[in-house]
Amino acid sequence: MQTRTGQGDRAMRKLLMIMMLCVPSLVWSATEINWDMEAFDPNLKDKPSLQNGMRLYVNFCLGCHSLKFQRYERTVDFLGIPHEVALENLVFSDQKIGDLITTAMSPEGAKAWFGATPPDLTQVAKTRGGEWIYNYLKTFYSDPARPLGVNNKVFPNVGMPNVLAGLQGVQVEACVQRPKIAENGGEMRDPLIPGLAITEEKCGELVVEDGTGLYSAQEFDDAIYDLTNFLYYVAEPTRLERHRTGVFVILFLIILGCFTYLLNREYWKDVH
Ligand code: HEC
Repeated sequence: MQTRTGQGDRAMRKLLMIMMLCVPSLVWSATEINWDMEAFDPNLKDKPSLQNGMRLYVNFCLGCHSLKFQRYERTVDFLGIPHEVALENLVFSDQKIGDLITTAMSPEGAKAWFGATPPDLTQVAKTRGGEWIYNYLKTFYSDPARPLGVNNKVFPNVGMPNVLAGLQGVQVEACVQRPKIAENGGEMRDPLIPGLAITEEKCGELVVEDGTGLYSAQEFDDAIYDLTNFLYYVAEPTRLERHRTGVFVILFLIILGCFTYLLNREYWKDVH
């Protein structure tokens, strides 16, 4: 039999547990990002995007970051890449198709070189969110004051080198003219000259120096979209299946509900 104190203890413990669960999220939200984040809308049905994302990942990221909770086989099967093609183009070490996606980088060496160990990225889309990753990868910029010569807008003083600079080009901070935004969120227009936007100077914005990157701005955006989409998939490979199962379960419950209602009516029909 439960005593009153036993119940009190339990309630107290529950309260403490809820508080402990809340603390990390409070700390997380306290690290404010001073950057106008661009939205990211994932699409797990876009297989070409996911395939390109994986191609970019193994070429530019896997040297430092493992995806050690994910296997090559499961990934390429979902992405619709035949095993021979994957082994030839996506698995660079002597790993097998059934292996986990690990990196050859030693954590100790990485810590010494970059000041921080590159974390495993299997779950990063869950811990950071797709939007954060998308903006993080787009906002590396030159900063001679930093040891590696680069900084980042959404991860200030980051220890990661700008590995995509060859594609994006050299990005620098600059003051640029941007359309002034009204209180309703729309761009402000000149009251005298129809159609003319009112602009204001904004400093700390990022611009790519002309001719320094292999990709155009649009191509780079698309590449980062694909890479982020891929990381979003890896963080929860069964997401699509889960959604499909969810729909079936709801349909099943609706049909079951109808039969239960009819049965209930049948039982009670002679009772007045
Ligand atoms: C040369 C090694 C190296 C390469 C290559 C590299 N990174 Fe990193 N990355 C790092 C290091 C080191 C950190 C940790 C930075 C810190 O904590 O200051 C990091 C951090 C990150 C983080 C933040 C993780 C977190 O939650 O804190 C993400 C996301 C990330 N990298 C994505 C990528 C992607 C995507 C690529 C490929 C385009 C890539 N990295 C390539 C070294 C690397």
